Amino acid sequence: MFFWKQKEIVGVDIGSHSIKLVQLRKEKAGWHLVNLGMAQLPPESIVDNSIMDSSSVVDCLNNLVECQGLKTKNVATAVAGHSVIIRKIKLPVMTEVEAEASIEWEAEQYIPFEISEVNLDFQILGQDPQDSTNMDVILVAAKKDFVNEYVAVFQEAGFTPLVMDIDSFALENAYQLNYDQDEDVIALVNAGASSMNINIIKNGISVFTRDIQVGGNTFNHEIQKQLGLTDQEAETAKLGGNLPDVDAADVNAVLQETMEHLSQEIQRSLDFYSATSSDDKIQKVYLSGGVAKTPGCIDSLQRRLGVSVELLDPFRRIIVDKNNFDMEYIQAVSPFFALGVGLATRRLGDK
Ligand SMILES: Nc1ncnc2c1ncn2[C@@H]1O[C@H](COP(=O)(O)OP(=O)(O)OP(=O)(O)O)[C@@H](O)[C@H]1O
Ligand SMILES: [Mg+2]
Repeated sequence: MFFWKQKEIVGVDIGSHSIKLVQLRKEKAGWHLVNLGMAQLPPESIVDNSIMDSSSVVDCLNNLVECQGLKTKNVATAVAGHSVIIRKIKLPVMTEVEAEASIEWEAEQYIPFEISEVNLDFQILGQDPQDSTNMDVILVAAKKDFVNEYVAVFQEAGFTPLVMDIDSFALENAYQLNYDQDEDVIALVNAGASSMNINIIKNGISVFTRDIQVGGNTFNHEIQKQLGLTDQEAETAKLGGNLPDVDAADVNAVLQETMEHLSQEIQRSLDFYSATSSDDKIQKVYLSGGVAKTPGCIDSLQRRLGVSVELLDPFRRIIVDKNNFDMEYIQAVSPFFALGVGLATRRLGDK
């Protein structure tokens, strides 16, 4: 007798600062945490989302596998950045099969790359509320060369990449897994070391996504510049470490000033959405990513945006066995794992 078993998959989020992996298992009561790990990458291994030093990424993946005792080789991962285009388009109402057949032709007018050079995907969102002969579709194009860089490092580390997602969709998935979605319009902001993913969700459907190429590294650059420190010293100062001749109050002042700047960047995107979407008011912002660890960041963002901001908890509804995991650690690192959790529930053939 044969039992069909869903393939085990591990979610792996390759960030420019660190690689995060999450393994979850679906059981009757819900998703259980099976494995969780993160490991820092050497600086400049990934720049502008491109893998500059594939051997350090492969080494980092191998180390994680070893440290975590990971057995699963199937991976769900995600890409983002300039080589990925996400567009909300309108098509005449048609079936999924019909859309599949015409998507290449339709995509040509929206995608600034040669169609032969991209992987295309789409998702039908539903009927256009303004015109019932049309439907809203999310079109995604990712440059093949770029995606292949990621596929190659996984293969080199002995993994099989089964699901290739997009950062802001994985973020959305982490939110949907963990929250009731009772607010009409919310914004998800994942602010990492070098980029921020923003995804605005209206009644459970993504209506706006944008990646901004700035993040936690800005704190380091400003500390370095304003306090005359090296890169390494700046990171130490940022994380609250003591350095001779460096006044913590000065570091804090730079952190607050830089956080204001990042908050402004976020505000600009949210304002752009508001300006193009009649009277939709964003009711709440859920923040994740390493920047969320900056002291005072929630207050700063809240003040600037004038809406309530809270930390996104990617483990809110994940069942975690206290005998296997240190709950304090999980709480401390939870901002880093939003994409990882969002990826860990993906399965082959998901849309
Ligand atoms: N305690 C802390 N206080 C402030 N910042 C922190 C803290 N811990 C980590 N960070 C910063 O968070 C950032 C890393 O966050 P994250 O892991 O979300 O980024 P990433 O996913 O690797 O990068 P990206 O997705 O932008 O390429 C770094 O800039 C790091 O210095
Ligand atoms: Mg990241």
